[in-house]
Amino acid sequence: MVDFKDKSEVKFSEAAQKEIERYISHYPADRKKSAVLPVLHIAQAEFGGWVSPAVQDKVAEILGIEPIEVYEVATFYTMFNLKPVGNYVLEVCRTGPCMLRGSDQLIEHIENRIGCKVGETSPDGMFTLKTVECLAACGMGPMLQIHEDYHENLDPESMDKLLEDLRNKAAAKKSN
Ligand code: FES
Repeated sequence: MVDFKDKSEVKFSEAAQKEIERYISHYPADRKKSAVLPVLHIAQAEFGGWVSPAVQDKVAEILGIEPIEVYEVATFYTMFNLKPVGNYVLEVCRTGPCMLRGSDQLIEHIENRIGCKVGETSPDGMFTLKTVECLAACGMGPMLQIHEDYHENLDPESMDKLLEDLRNKAAAKKSN
């Protein structure tokens, strides 16, 4: 887990810095704040899948804005994690169409399988379970998002297979 006590400890990699500069260059010099979303995404990817207060402070410094202007964005959007997360963040859609197709049962099934409730990380540190609003795949519910990927038309069997695949993937990564 990557954590920092203060923004002075937060150092982006060279590649991330370049990417941040590229986004900032899309906007007039006095409108750097407009890059807050992509810069937060870069920060989250760079520092272990979450944005701590120190990381958010660093983002504010880079953009020349007040920390509160970053906090209000980071706390509004569910795609930003405000506390440490597991290897895989399971974001299950719970909006109406997915609910009608069984998202409540799917969530309960996942909770039982990974051993934690919504908003928590599994004891083995592998999964963080979140619920989110519509991910625009309503015809394929129940569904969830893991990082960039959508997994659709899920049922208990396909969900178990997905969790097993992810565990295997993490184990393979570890042994390399
Ligand atoms: S309601 Fe679940 S993706 Fe739209």
